[in-house]
Amino acid sequence: MRLTEQIDMRQPRDTIREECEVLQINDNQLREIMNRLNKALLLGLGKETHSKAIVKCFITYIQDLPNGTEKGKFLALDLGGTNFRVLIINLGPNHFDMQSKIYAIPKHIMTGTGTALFDHIAECLANFMKEHEVFNERLALGFTFSFPLKQLGLTKGILERWTKGFSCSGVVGEDVVQLLKDAIARRGDISISVMGILNDATGCLMSCAHKKRDARIAVIIGTGSNACYVEKTDNCELFDGPPGKKELLINTEWGAFGDDGALDFIRTEFDRDVDANSINPGKQVQEKMISGMYMGELVRLVLVKFTKMGLLFGGRGSDLLFERGSFYTKYVSEIESDKPGDYTNCMDILEELGLSHATEADMAGVRHVCECVSRRAAHLVSAGMATLLNKMAEPRVTIGIDGSVYRFHPHFHSLMCEKIAQLANPGIVFDLMLSEDGSGRGAALVAAVACRERC
Ligand code: GLC
Repeated sequence: MRLTEQIDMRQPRDTIREECEVLQINDNQLREIMNRLNKALLLGLGKETHSKAIVKCFITYIQDLPNGTEKGKFLALDLGGTNFRVLIINLGPNHFDMQSKIYAIPKHIMTGTGTALFDHIAECLANFMKEHEVFNERLALGFTFSFPLKQLGLTKGILERWTKGFSCSGVVGEDVVQLLKDAIARRGDISISVMGILNDATGCLMSCAHKKRDARIAVIIGTGSNACYVEKTDNCELFDGPPGKKELLINTEWGAFGDDGALDFIRTEFDRDVDANSINPGKQVQEKMISGMYMGELVRLVLVKFTKMGLLFGGRGSDLLFERGSFYTKYVSEIESDKPGDYTNCMDILEELGLSHATEADMAGVRHVCECVSRRAAHLVSAGMATLLNKMAEPRVTIGIDGSVYRFHPHFHSLMCEKIAQLANPGIVFDLMLSEDGSGRGAALVAAVACRERC
Protein backbone atom coordinates (compact mmCIF):
# COMPACT_ATOMS: atom_id res chain seq x y z
CA MET A 1 0.00 0.00 0.00
CA ARG A 2 2.75 2.39 1.01
CA LEU A 3 4.69 1.59 -2.11
CA THR A 4 1.66 2.20 -4.33
CA GLU A 5 1.08 5.57 -2.68
CA GLN A 6 4.68 6.55 -3.33
CA ILE A 7 4.42 5.55 -6.96
CA ASP A 8 1.22 7.57 -7.33
CA MET A 9 2.88 10.57 -5.72
CA ARG A 10 5.84 10.38 -8.04
CA GLN A 11 4.04 9.83 -11.26
CA PRO A 12 2.58 13.29 -11.99
CA ARG A 13 5.95 14.89 -11.27
CA ASP A 14 7.72 12.60 -13.70
CA THR A 15 5.06 13.07 -16.34
CA ILE A 16 5.28 16.86 -15.93
CA ARG A 17 9.03 16.66 -16.45
CA GLU A 18 8.64 14.50 -19.52
CA GLU A 19 5.93 16.72 -21.00
CA CYS A 20 8.11 19.79 -20.43
CA GLU A 21 10.94 18.35 -22.50
CA VAL A 22 9.42 19.94 -25.61
CA LEU A 23 10.36 23.28 -24.07
CA GLN A 24 14.04 22.41 -23.91
CA ILE A 25 16.34 23.38 -26.76
CA ASN A 26 19.55 21.39 -26.83
CA ASP A 27 22.91 22.75 -28.00
CA ASN A 28 22.68 21.12 -31.42
CA GLN A 29 19.33 22.78 -31.98
CA LEU A 30 20.71 26.08 -30.72
CA ARG A 31 23.59 25.84 -33.19
CA GLU A 32 21.12 25.16 -35.98
CA ILE A 33 19.16 28.24 -34.89
CA MET A 34 22.40 30.25 -35.00
CA ASN A 35 23.08 29.11 -38.57
CA ARG A 36 19.59 30.06 -39.64
CA LEU A 37 19.70 33.42 -37.89
CA ASN A 38 23.07 34.21 -39.44
CA LYS A 39 21.64 33.53 -42.90
CA ALA A 40 18.55 35.60 -42.09
CA LEU A 41 20.75 38.55 -41.03
CA LEU A 42 22.67 38.40 -44.31
CA LEU A 43 19.41 38.41 -46.27
CA GLY A 44 18.29 41.48 -44.34
CA LEU A 45 21.53 43.34 -45.09
CA GLY A 46 21.63 42.42 -48.80
CA LYS A 47 20.37 44.86 -51.41
CA GLU A 48 18.73 42.19 -53.57
CA THR A 49 17.30 40.19 -50.69
CA HIS A 50 16.20 42.85 -48.19
CA SER A 51 12.68 43.39 -49.46
CA LYS A 52 11.74 39.74 -48.90
CA ALA A 53 13.92 39.22 -45.82
CA ILE A 54 12.30 38.21 -42.54
CA VAL A 55 14.91 39.72 -40.23
CA LYS A 56 15.05 43.16 -41.72
CA CYS A 57 18.35 44.49 -40.37
CA PHE A 58 17.25 48.09 -40.77
CA ILE A 59 19.89 50.72 -41.25
CA THR A 60 19.75 53.32 -38.49
CA TYR A 61 21.88 56.09 -40.00
CA ILE A 62 23.63 56.26 -36.65
CA GLN A 63 27.35 56.03 -37.30
CA ASP A 64 28.77 57.84 -34.35
CA LEU A 65 28.66 56.49 -30.86
CA PRO A 66 28.87 58.96 -27.98
CA ASN A 67 32.40 59.97 -27.03
CA GLY A 68 31.61 61.70 -23.76
CA THR A 69 31.93 65.27 -25.07
CA GLU A 70 28.22 65.70 -25.79
CA LYS A 71 26.55 68.57 -23.99
CA GLY A 72 23.36 70.57 -23.88
CA LYS A 73 19.69 70.31 -22.95
CA PHE A 74 17.56 67.79 -24.84
CA LEU A 75 14.06 66.43 -24.92
CA ALA A 76 13.31 62.79 -25.55
CA LEU A 77 10.18 60.79 -26.30
CA ASP A 78 9.98 57.08 -25.64
CA LEU A 79 7.13 55.11 -27.18
CA GLY A 80 7.07 51.40 -27.54
CA GLY A 81 6.69 49.42 -24.38
CA THR A 82 3.89 49.44 -21.92
CA ASN A 83 4.21 53.16 -21.28
CA PHE A 84 4.97 56.38 -23.06
CA ARG A 85 7.52 58.74 -21.51
CA VAL A 86 8.73 62.26 -22.01
CA LEU A 87 12.16 63.20 -20.74
CA ILE A 88 14.35 66.24 -20.38
CA ILE A 89 18.05 65.66 -20.14
CA ASN A 90 20.98 67.90 -19.32
CA LEU A 91 24.23 66.54 -20.62
CA GLY A 92 27.61 67.81 -19.62
CA PRO A 93 31.21 66.57 -19.58
CA ASN A 94 30.71 64.68 -16.36
CA HIS A 95 27.05 64.76 -15.68
CA PHE A 96 23.80 63.37 -16.90
CA ASP A 97 20.80 64.93 -15.27
CA MET A 98 17.46 63.57 -16.33
CA GLN A 99 13.85 64.13 -15.39
CA SER A 100 11.01 62.19 -16.88
CA LYS A 101 7.31 61.53 -16.65
CA ILE A 102 5.35 58.44 -17.60
CA TYR A 103 2.03 58.84 -19.40
CA ALA A 104 -0.35 55.98 -19.94
CA ILE A 105 -1.42 55.11 -23.45
CA PRO A 106 -5.02 53.99 -23.05
CA LYS A 107 -5.95 50.80 -24.89
CA HIS A 108 -8.38 52.67 -27.15
CA ILE A 109 -5.50 54.87 -28.32
CA MET A 110 -3.19 51.88 -28.90
CA THR A 111 -5.74 50.42 -31.26
CA GLY A 112 -7.40 53.63 -32.51
CA THR A 113 -6.28 56.07 -35.20
CA GLY A 114 -2.75 57.29 -35.78
CA THR A 115 -3.96 60.89 -35.54
CA ALA A 116 -5.32 60.27 -32.04
CA LEU A 117 -2.06 58.60 -31.03
CA PHE A 118 0.16 61.44 -32.23
CA ASP A 119 -2.19 64.10 -30.84
CA HIS A 120 -1.94 62.34 -27.48
CA ILE A 121 1.88 62.28 -27.71
CA ALA A 122 2.02 65.97 -28.64
CA GLU A 123 -0.30 66.85 -25.78
CA CYS A 124 1.82 64.96 -23.25
CA LEU A 125 4.93 66.67 -24.65
CA ALA A 126 3.33 70.12 -24.36
CA ASN A 127 2.21 69.48 -20.78
CA PHE A 128 5.66 68.23 -19.88
CA MET A 129 7.36 71.26 -21.43
CA LYS A 130 5.04 73.52 -19.45
CA GLU A 131 5.81 71.72 -16.20
CA HIS A 132 9.54 71.98 -16.85
CA GLU A 133 9.37 75.61 -17.92
CA VAL A 134 10.77 75.07 -21.41
CA PHE A 135 7.48 75.74 -23.15
CA ASN A 136 8.85 78.64 -25.15
CA GLU A 137 12.22 77.11 -26.00
CA ARG A 138 12.99 75.27 -29.20
CA LEU A 139 14.87 72.23 -27.95
CA ALA A 140 16.46 69.37 -29.85
CA LEU A 141 14.52 66.14 -29.47
CA GLY A 142 15.34 62.46 -29.88
CA PHE A 143 12.42 60.10 -30.50
CA THR A 144 12.65 56.49 -29.41
CA PHE A 145 10.01 54.68 -31.40
CA SER A 146 10.33 50.97 -30.74
CA PHE A 147 8.64 49.37 -33.70
CA PRO A 148 9.98 48.12 -37.04
CA LEU A 149 11.00 51.27 -38.84
CA LYS A 150 12.50 51.49 -42.29
CA GLN A 151 14.78 54.45 -41.92
CA LEU A 152 15.45 56.76 -44.81
CA GLY A 153 17.64 59.07 -42.79
CA LEU A 154 18.37 59.96 -39.19
CA THR A 155 15.09 61.86 -38.96
CA LYS A 156 12.93 59.93 -41.35
CA GLY A 157 11.44 56.53 -40.65
CA ILE A 158 8.59 54.64 -42.27
CA LEU A 159 6.66 52.24 -40.06
CA GLU A 160 6.75 48.75 -41.61
CA ARG A 161 4.23 47.24 -39.24
CA TRP A 162 2.99 47.49 -35.69
CA THR A 163 4.05 44.99 -33.01
CA LYS A 164 3.37 44.48 -29.29
CA GLY A 165 -0.35 45.15 -29.18
CA PHE A 166 -0.41 48.43 -31.15
CA SER A 167 -2.52 48.68 -34.28
CA CYS A 168 -3.23 52.41 -34.87
CA SER A 169 -4.63 53.03 -38.32
CA GLY A 170 -2.98 55.27 -40.90
CA VAL A 171 0.57 54.90 -39.61
CA VAL A 172 1.97 51.85 -41.45
CA GLY A 173 3.80 53.13 -44.54
CA GLU A 174 4.05 56.66 -43.13
CA ASP A 175 7.01 58.66 -41.81
CA VAL A 176 6.42 58.79 -38.07
CA VAL A 177 8.63 61.86 -37.61
CA GLN A 178 6.35 63.70 -40.00
CA LEU A 179 3.27 62.45 -38.10
CA LEU A 180 4.78 63.82 -34.89
CA LYS A 181 5.60 67.16 -36.52
CA ASP A 182 2.06 67.36 -37.97
CA ALA A 183 0.52 66.76 -34.55
CA ILE A 184 2.73 69.46 -33.02
CA ALA A 185 1.77 71.83 -35.85
CA ARG A 186 -1.94 71.09 -35.26
CA ARG A 187 -1.52 72.35 -31.70
CA GLY A 188 0.60 75.34 -32.71
CA ASP A 189 1.77 76.08 -29.17
CA ILE A 190 5.17 74.36 -28.94
CA SER A 191 8.16 74.06 -31.17
CA ILE A 192 10.91 71.42 -31.22
CA SER A 193 13.52 70.19 -33.64
CA VAL A 194 13.62 66.44 -34.13
CA MET A 195 17.28 65.46 -34.35
CA GLY A 196 16.88 61.73 -34.61
CA ILE A 197 14.53 58.80 -34.50
CA LEU A 198 15.66 55.49 -33.11
CA ASN A 199 14.64 52.15 -31.74
CA ASP A 200 14.94 51.14 -28.05
CA ALA A 201 17.64 48.58 -28.90
CA THR A 202 19.63 51.35 -30.59
CA GLY A 203 19.01 53.63 -27.61
CA CYS A 204 20.28 50.91 -25.31
CA LEU A 205 23.47 50.59 -27.34
CA MET A 206 24.02 54.35 -27.38
CA SER A 207 23.53 54.66 -23.65
CA CYS A 208 25.84 51.74 -22.86
CA ALA A 209 28.47 53.02 -25.28
CA HIS A 210 28.39 56.34 -23.46
CA LYS A 211 29.74 54.48 -20.42
CA LYS A 212 31.72 51.65 -21.98
CA ARG A 213 33.47 52.19 -25.28
CA ASP A 214 33.43 48.49 -26.19
CA ALA A 215 29.62 48.26 -26.07
CA ARG A 216 28.86 47.01 -29.59
CA ILE A 217 25.64 44.98 -29.20
CA ALA A 218 22.40 45.73 -27.38
CA VAL A 219 19.43 43.52 -26.75
CA ILE A 220 15.96 44.22 -25.39
CA ILE A 221 14.12 41.53 -23.46
CA GLY A 222 11.02 43.37 -22.33
CA THR A 223 7.50 43.59 -23.69
CA GLY A 224 9.12 42.75 -27.04
CA SER A 225 12.55 41.52 -28.00
CA ASN A 226 15.07 42.98 -30.41
CA ALA A 227 18.79 43.42 -30.96
CA CYS A 228 21.03 46.09 -32.43
CA TYR A 229 24.73 45.85 -33.28
CA VAL A 230 27.60 47.66 -34.95
CA GLU A 231 28.12 46.47 -38.53
CA LYS A 232 30.82 47.39 -41.03
CA THR A 233 29.37 49.96 -43.42
CA ASP A 234 30.76 47.90 -46.31
CA ASN A 235 28.43 45.06 -45.34
CA CYS A 236 25.35 47.31 -45.36
CA GLU A 237 24.46 47.18 -49.04
CA LEU A 238 21.45 49.43 -48.59
CA PHE A 239 23.30 52.28 -46.96
CA ASP A 240 23.07 55.40 -49.09
CA GLY A 241 24.30 57.96 -46.58
CA PRO A 242 27.51 59.97 -46.84
CA PRO A 243 30.60 57.80 -47.37
CA GLY A 244 33.63 57.81 -45.15
CA LYS A 245 32.48 56.23 -41.91
CA LYS A 246 33.43 52.63 -41.33
CA GLU A 247 30.56 51.55 -39.10
CA LEU A 248 26.82 51.72 -38.85
CA LEU A 249 24.31 50.61 -36.24
CA ILE A 250 21.88 47.98 -37.45
CA ASN A 251 18.45 47.47 -35.92
CA THR A 252 17.95 43.76 -36.62
CA GLU A 253 14.24 43.50 -35.67
CA TRP A 254 15.00 39.90 -34.81
CA GLY A 255 11.62 39.48 -33.13
CA ALA A 256 10.37 38.49 -36.58
CA PHE A 257 12.88 35.62 -36.88
CA GLY A 258 10.88 32.45 -37.48
CA ASP A 259 8.03 34.13 -39.39
CA ASP A 260 9.04 31.97 -42.39
CA GLY A 261 9.03 28.72 -40.42
CA ALA A 262 12.73 28.81 -39.47
CA LEU A 263 11.84 28.04 -35.85
CA ASP A 264 9.06 25.54 -36.50
CA PHE A 265 11.33 22.65 -35.50
CA ILE A 266 11.35 23.89 -31.90
CA ARG A 267 7.93 25.50 -31.65
CA THR A 268 5.34 23.80 -29.47
CA GLU A 269 1.56 23.61 -29.34
CA PHE A 270 1.75 26.39 -26.70
CA ASP A 271 3.61 28.72 -29.06
CA ARG A 272 1.10 28.08 -31.81
CA ASP A 273 -1.75 28.82 -29.42
CA VAL A 274 -0.20 32.11 -28.25
CA ASP A 275 0.36 33.10 -31.86
CA ALA A 276 -3.11 32.16 -33.07
CA ASN A 277 -4.70 34.25 -30.33
CA SER A 278 -2.47 37.28 -30.76
CA ILE A 279 -3.26 40.54 -32.55
CA ASN A 280 -0.66 39.64 -35.24
CA PRO A 281 -0.83 35.90 -36.03
CA GLY A 282 2.15 34.52 -37.94
CA LYS A 283 4.25 37.55 -37.09
CA GLN A 284 7.02 38.07 -34.52
CA VAL A 285 7.45 34.33 -33.98
CA GLN A 286 10.74 34.49 -32.08
CA GLU A 287 9.51 37.45 -30.02
CA LYS A 288 6.52 35.38 -28.91
CA MET A 289 8.88 32.71 -27.55
CA ILE A 290 11.03 35.20 -25.63
CA SER A 291 9.41 38.37 -24.51
CA GLY A 292 7.37 39.59 -21.59
CA MET A 293 4.22 40.17 -23.55
CA TYR A 294 3.85 36.40 -24.04
CA MET A 295 5.89 34.53 -21.42
CA GLY A 296 3.21 34.42 -18.72
CA GLU A 297 0.61 33.27 -21.21
CA LEU A 298 2.89 30.44 -22.39
CA VAL A 299 3.24 29.26 -18.80
CA ARG A 300 -0.52 29.48 -18.31
CA LEU A 301 -1.20 27.35 -21.37
CA VAL A 302 1.14 24.64 -20.11
CA LEU A 303 -0.51 24.75 -16.68
CA VAL A 304 -3.95 24.47 -18.26
CA LYS A 305 -2.86 21.42 -20.23
CA PHE A 306 -1.40 19.75 -17.14
CA THR A 307 -4.52 20.51 -15.12
CA LYS A 308 -6.72 18.96 -17.78
CA MET A 309 -4.43 15.91 -17.81
CA GLY A 310 -4.94 15.62 -14.07
CA LEU A 311 -1.25 16.28 -13.38
CA LEU A 312 -1.81 19.50 -11.41
CA PHE A 313 -4.28 20.75 -8.78
CA GLY A 314 -6.01 17.36 -8.61
CA GLY A 315 -7.35 18.10 -12.07
CA ARG A 316 -9.35 21.07 -10.71
CA GLY A 317 -8.46 24.46 -12.19
CA SER A 318 -10.08 27.83 -11.57
CA ASP A 319 -11.91 30.40 -13.68
CA LEU A 320 -8.87 32.65 -13.66
CA LEU A 321 -6.47 29.90 -14.66
CA PHE A 322 -8.62 29.26 -17.72
CA GLU A 323 -8.78 32.95 -18.62
CA ARG A 324 -6.37 34.27 -21.28
CA GLY A 325 -3.76 36.71 -20.04
CA SER A 326 -4.41 36.03 -16.35
CA PHE A 327 -0.92 34.68 -15.64
CA TYR A 328 1.34 37.74 -15.73
CA THR A 329 4.96 37.45 -16.83
CA LYS A 330 6.04 39.02 -13.54
CA TYR A 331 4.67 35.89 -11.81
CA VAL A 332 7.37 33.84 -13.57
CA SER A 333 10.10 36.00 -12.01
CA GLU A 334 8.39 35.99 -8.64
CA ILE A 335 7.90 32.22 -8.56
CA GLU A 336 11.50 31.59 -9.57
CA SER A 337 12.67 34.04 -6.90
CA ASP A 338 11.50 31.66 -4.16
CA LYS A 339 14.46 29.87 -2.57
CA PRO A 340 14.72 26.15 -3.41
CA GLY A 341 12.20 24.25 -1.35
CA ASP A 342 10.31 27.45 -0.46
CA TYR A 343 7.08 28.33 -2.23
CA THR A 344 6.02 31.59 -0.58
CA ASN A 345 5.58 33.65 -3.75
CA CYS A 346 4.22 30.69 -5.63
CA MET A 347 1.56 30.08 -3.00
CA ASP A 348 0.48 33.75 -3.02
CA ILE A 349 0.19 33.75 -6.80
CA LEU A 350 -1.74 30.50 -6.96
CA GLU A 351 -4.08 31.86 -4.33
CA GLU A 352 -4.62 35.00 -6.40
CA LEU A 353 -5.50 32.74 -9.29
CA GLY A 354 -8.09 30.91 -7.20
CA LEU A 355 -5.91 27.83 -6.81
CA SER A 356 -5.57 27.74 -3.04
CA HIS A 357 -6.09 23.98 -3.14
CA ALA A 358 -2.59 23.57 -4.68
CA THR A 359 -0.34 21.13 -2.85
CA GLU A 360 3.41 21.46 -2.48
CA ALA A 361 3.85 18.98 -5.34
CA ASP A 362 1.67 21.24 -7.52
CA MET A 363 3.81 24.22 -6.62
CA ALA A 364 6.97 22.31 -7.54
CA GLY A 365 5.29 21.49 -10.86
CA VAL A 366 4.31 25.12 -11.50
CA ARG A 367 7.83 26.26 -10.73
CA HIS A 368 9.26 23.67 -13.11
CA VAL A 369 7.03 24.95 -15.92
CA CYS A 370 8.15 28.55 -15.25
CA GLU A 371 11.79 27.46 -15.28
CA CYS A 372 11.42 25.65 -18.59
CA VAL A 373 9.69 28.58 -20.32
CA SER A 374 12.10 31.24 -19.04
CA ARG A 375 15.18 29.07 -19.63
CA ARG A 376 14.10 28.47 -23.22
CA ALA A 377 13.74 32.25 -23.70
CA ALA A 378 17.19 32.85 -22.21
CA HIS A 379 18.70 30.19 -24.47
CA LEU A 380 17.10 31.65 -27.60
CA VAL A 381 18.42 35.11 -26.73
CA SER A 382 21.84 33.60 -26.05
CA ALA A 383 21.90 31.88 -29.42
CA GLY A 384 21.12 35.26 -31.00
CA MET A 385 23.87 36.98 -29.01
CA ALA A 386 26.41 34.31 -29.95
CA THR A 387 25.41 34.65 -33.62
CA LEU A 388 26.14 38.37 -33.50
CA LEU A 389 29.38 37.93 -31.54
CA ASN A 390 30.65 35.34 -34.02
CA LYS A 391 29.59 37.49 -36.96
CA MET A 392 31.35 40.58 -35.61
CA ALA A 393 34.42 38.53 -34.65
CA GLU A 394 35.77 41.15 -32.27
CA PRO A 395 37.85 39.96 -29.36
CA ARG A 396 36.02 41.92 -26.63
CA VAL A 397 32.43 43.10 -26.66
CA THR A 398 30.14 44.53 -24.02
CA ILE A 399 26.48 43.65 -24.61
CA GLY A 400 24.03 46.22 -23.29
CA ILE A 401 20.72 44.76 -22.11
CA ASP A 402 17.43 46.32 -21.15
CA GLY A 403 13.88 45.17 -20.59
CA SER A 404 11.71 43.97 -17.75
CA VAL A 405 12.27 40.24 -18.29
CA TYR A 406 16.05 40.54 -18.01
CA ARG A 407 15.84 43.10 -15.24
CA PHE A 408 13.48 41.25 -12.94
CA HIS A 409 14.03 37.57 -13.65
CA PRO A 410 16.34 36.15 -10.99
CA HIS A 411 18.33 33.81 -13.27
CA PHE A 412 18.14 35.28 -16.78
CA HIS A 413 21.55 36.93 -16.46
CA SER A 414 23.40 33.81 -15.34
CA LEU A 415 21.57 31.60 -17.85
CA MET A 416 22.68 33.94 -20.61
CA CYS A 417 26.30 34.20 -19.43
CA GLU A 418 26.58 30.43 -19.33
CA LYS A 419 24.95 29.74 -22.68
CA ILE A 420 26.61 32.53 -24.67
CA ALA A 421 30.00 31.32 -23.40
CA GLN A 422 29.20 27.84 -24.74
CA LEU A 423 28.00 29.06 -28.12
CA ALA A 424 30.34 31.95 -28.96
CA ASN A 425 33.58 31.16 -30.80
CA PRO A 426 36.55 30.52 -28.51
CA GLY A 427 38.58 33.62 -27.78
CA ILE A 428 35.66 36.05 -27.76
CA VAL A 429 35.35 37.76 -24.42
CA PHE A 430 31.99 39.33 -23.62
CA ASP A 431 30.32 41.11 -20.79
CA LEU A 432 26.63 41.72 -20.11
CA MET A 433 25.78 45.22 -18.93
CA LEU A 434 22.39 46.28 -17.64
CA SER A 435 21.44 49.46 -19.42
CA GLU A 436 20.16 52.28 -17.32
CA ASP A 437 17.18 53.63 -19.13
CA GLY A 438 18.57 53.17 -22.61
CA SER A 439 15.44 54.36 -24.38
CA GLY A 440 15.39 57.76 -22.75
CA ARG A 441 19.12 58.37 -22.47
CA GLY A 442 19.73 56.88 -25.89
CA ALA A 443 17.26 59.26 -27.52
CA ALA A 444 18.95 62.25 -25.88
CA LEU A 445 22.37 60.93 -26.88
CA VAL A 446 21.32 60.47 -30.50
CA ALA A 447 20.10 64.07 -30.50
CA ALA A 448 23.29 65.19 -28.77
CA VAL A 449 25.62 63.31 -31.13
CA ALA A 450 23.70 64.71 -34.11
CA CYS A 451 24.16 68.22 -32.68
CA ARG A 452 27.84 67.47 -31.99
CA GLU A 453 28.39 66.32 -35.57
CA ARG A 454 26.60 69.30 -37.00
CA CYS A 455 28.56 71.90 -35.06
C1 GLC B 1 9.36 44.81 -30.93
C2 GLC B 1 9.58 45.97 -31.88
C3 GLC B 1 11.03 46.41 -31.86
C4 GLC B 1 11.46 46.69 -30.44
C5 GLC B 1 11.21 45.48 -29.55
C6 GLC B 1 11.57 45.72 -28.10
O1 GLC B 1 10.07 43.71 -31.41
O2 GLC B 1 9.20 45.60 -33.18
O3 GLC B 1 11.20 47.55 -32.66
O4 GLC B 1 12.82 47.03 -30.39
O5 GLC B 1 9.83 45.13 -29.63
O6 GLC B 1 10.83 46.75 -27.54
